[in-house]
Amino acid sequence: MTFIAKAREAAARGLDVISFGVGQPDAPTFPHIVEAGIRALEEGFTGYTETQGIPELRKAIADYLNERYGAGVSADEVIVTTGAKTALFVAMAAVLRPGDEVLIPEPSYPSYASTARILGARPVFVPLRWTGRGFELDVSAVEERLTERTKMIVLNNPHNPTGTVFNAQAVEELVELASRRGIAVLADEIYDNFVYEGRFRSVLESARWRDVVLYVNGHSKTFSMTGWRLGWLVADRRLIPLLRFIAENVYSCAPSISQRAGVAALRGPWEPVREMVEEFRQRRDIMVEELSKIPGVETYKPQGAFYVFPRLARLVEQLGMTVEELVEHMIYSRGVVMIPGSVFPDKAGALHVRLSYALRPERIREGMRRFREEVENLLEEKAKR
Ligand SMILES: Cc1ncc(COP(=O)(O)O)c(C=O)c1O
Repeated sequence: MTFIAKAREAAARGLDVISFGVGQPDAPTFPHIVEAGIRALEEGFTGYTETQGIPELRKAIADYLNERYGAGVSADEVIVTTGAKTALFVAMAAVLRPGDEVLIPEPSYPSYASTARILGARPVFVPLRWTGRGFELDVSAVEERLTERTKMIVLNNPHNPTGTVFNAQAVEELVELASRRGIAVLADEIYDNFVYEGRFRSVLESARWRDVVLYVNGHSKTFSMTGWRLGWLVADRRLIPLLRFIAENVYSCAPSISQRAGVAALRGPWEPVREMVEEFRQRRDIMVEELSKIPGVETYKPQGAFYVFPRLARLVEQLGMTVEELVEHMIYSRGVVMIPGSVFPDKAGALHVRLSYALRPERIREGMRRFREEVENLLEEKAKR
């Protein structure tokens, strides 16, 4: 948020700002979904609904998960929430007590650690391994950090901020480890449609997911519906009464209109989603190609989500600057906004920046051209001194 405020300041000074900080698709919600929302309004479907979510939506969510992952989810194992963020909160509130530990691979979406802290629990971070060609989840490093206080392991796949799609073996090993140790897995698969190659392995494909998994997903990214506030939580039937009790006392129900629109989204047509994802694949390729032309920037081709998290260690060393200083300099000199890796909770990615490619290709090219030119200028100046 601090960096977004700086970007606003740069725009107010007259700079043409190109923000690589965005966390949502740039297209408006697809028309058939908007129409379903309008219809709900016109039909007066504007009151409270069941806390757990309207039955048609829960059925559509279960059908989606079963068709895609063969998960065998039933509609009564689904709770509709006000965005994935609320699903994370409800899941954590159900499992965590003060003093408990939550294991979080780092860098991570900041809400996991913040929510754990709100609940009096302690985040314990385990860094993803930087291989020089991307990031890997080291399950044995996770295991080493488990204690008798560990009650939850977070698995965000595809991963924000690195765009990593974890390999099937790592996912399976993690679920296996958690069930052996009786630890919950909070699986956040909100980017599950943004997978560009390779096979995505959902935790719901594990035969024993019900033993340990609290599964989070939602409409925000897949259908470009961030403002509709619609997410979902899936868990073993025995946990549902507790989850519903928390939900009822936090938000009563998800917005009725959004739920109706959410049914239309899942029922399809899916062509607009496929087209959007194809577009994002092309943007990713442009982004990575442009980044790889910048001296000192170590990049890789992420397989999922819409972020890349290149390493700037060499560059900032050559420049004698910190990543934050470089980011700030890029905002005020060229109007290019990036998110420094140090904003993620444990600073494991402090020598990286997060760049979202949810932008039109010409803006990606233009932003990257400015970044490259400015880096070249800075290196030249440095060499002269
Ligand atoms: C990994 C991850 N989980 C959850 C969310 C929150 O999603 P929602 O807007 O549906 O609450 C985001 C949003 O950026 C995210 O990146």
